[in-house]
Parts: sequence; structure tokens; C-alpha cells
Amino acid sequence: MMILRTTAEMRRQSRAWHRADETVGFVPTMGYLHAGHMSLVREAAERCDRVVVSIFVNPTQFGPNEDLAAYPRDFARDEALCREAGVDAVFYPAVGEMYAADHSTWVVEESLTRTLCGASRPGHFRGVTTVVAKLFHAVEPEVAVFGRKDAQQALVIERMARDLDFAVEIVVAPLVREPDGLAMSSRNKYLDADQRQRALAISRGLALAVRKYERGERDAAALCATVADGIRAAGGEIDYVELVSRADLCPAARAEGPVLLAVAARFGATRLIDNVFLG
Ligand code: PAF
Repeated sequence: MMILRTTAEMRRQSRAWHRADETVGFVPTMGYLHAGHMSLVREAAERCDRVVVSIFVNPTQFGPNEDLAAYPRDFARDEALCREAGVDAVFYPAVGEMYAADHSTWVVEESLTRTLCGASRPGHFRGVTTVVAKLFHAVEPEVAVFGRKDAQQALVIERMARDLDFAVEIVVAPLVREPDGLAMSSRNKYLDADQRQRALAISRGLALAVRKYERGERDAAALCATVADGIRAAGGEIDYVELVSRADLCPAARAEGPVLLAVAARFGATRLIDNVFLG
């Protein structure tokens, strides 16, 4: 498995594969890999001859008061997991490789980012779309795989790829949960045992909302309250619980047609997200 640290090296390798008629599947990550990431790697390997994983904790998607410095990092462990999974190359650039000191160009999606995490984390998606565009230029993949836990991110990336004519197919892979239902996330590591237990209110609330939906509940306020009440009762601090249309991520008053019920909540200092698609 190759470890490539510069955009030039990454692009050279990808072009060598392409010259040999091999396709490249790409899994962008911020490292501290877990089973959810490894399911994305398997998805890429099923579709392409070669798999590249990028590990880059992207500073531009963190707000000034967010957890950039504390974000978990363990490259040796990530490298071992990638090797074990048969990854062909890890793209592991330094911040200075990805961003010139006087970097001043951004990729901004202006519609789907108005709600949910776009509203609660100003500037976050500008950092995500910019870095993903730069990673696509470095890796030049045929396929890029994103997880559905970050449902809004996946939709924003799909939109960016379409609007800016990236020749890459965006695949959105299913959300992976721990056996007790907690959505897998690198940030779960921050939770102590008590917070970890209480954070189950998120997935349990969503599961209860799905059951109510299946029994005919369509009112957004009722579905959101089902989730929010459980989180508050468990001592969580809600960032948002919202029902939005799947098409444009605008708030929906009723769960008619395809909608997304999305949550962001804090247990202690840890901000967790989760979601379900309905309809
Ligand atoms: O989902 C993530 O880990 C990040 O937002 C991504 C897509 C790797 C961009 O930094």
C-alpha cells in the first residue's frame, strides 16, 4: 500500500492506473477510521480496480470554536486498517500541501447548505466543498463514496459534482450503526460511558419516529417532537431536529414525499448527527 503525501504524487499514481485502464475508487476521510469508513472502502473496491483513501483533517471545515485541535488522530492505526482492507494508496497530505498560505479561492454551494448543519455550522460546507474539489483534482477518481450519516454533505457533494462537471460518480453508502443503534462516528470516542449511554436517545428517537411514520403520522412537528423529547429527557442539548424535503433540504411541514428527518445534538461537548430518510 502506497502512502502519498503530495498532490503531484497522488495525481501521477492515479494517471498511471488510468493509463493501465484501471478505474479508481475514492473514499475521502478525516481519519480515525471505524467500521463505517471501512464499509465505504468495500463499496469502492466493489466498483473499481483501485481504491484510494484520503486522510486529512481539513481545517477549513471547522469553525473557530469547534474541535479541530482535539479531533482524534491516529495515523498508524488508520494505515493498518487500510492495509488490512486492501486499500491501494492512502493520500495523506499535510495542511501546507492542501492550502497555500495565501489560499483565497473557495467552492461554495448556495442552496442545499442553507439548512441543518449549514445553518448551525456557518462556513462548514464551504470548507467541505473546497477540500473535496481539491481532493477530486488530486485523486481523479471515477467513483467517490460518501456515508449517509452525513446525508446533507453527500447531497451537497452530489450537487457540486453535477454543477461543476466533475467526471466522478458519487455513491452514497448506508449509515453504519453500533450494535446498540448509535451511528458510527469518529467523534463517538469523545463520549464517556454515561454520555455514550444517553446518546442512544438520538437513534432511539429516530427509530420511534419511523414507527410513528409507518403508522401514519405525517405532521413534521409531531415527528420532530418524538425525537427531540427523548434527547432532552436524556440530557442532550439539541442543535436541530428538522424534517426537510429530500429534494431541496427546505423545511417540510408534513412528511409527504421523500423527506429527511435529521438531528444534531450534543452530549457533553460532543456534537453528534444522525438521520433517517422517510418516504
Ligand atoms: O466526511 C468527512 O470526513 C469530511 O467532511 C470529508 C468529506 C473527508 C471532507 O473533509
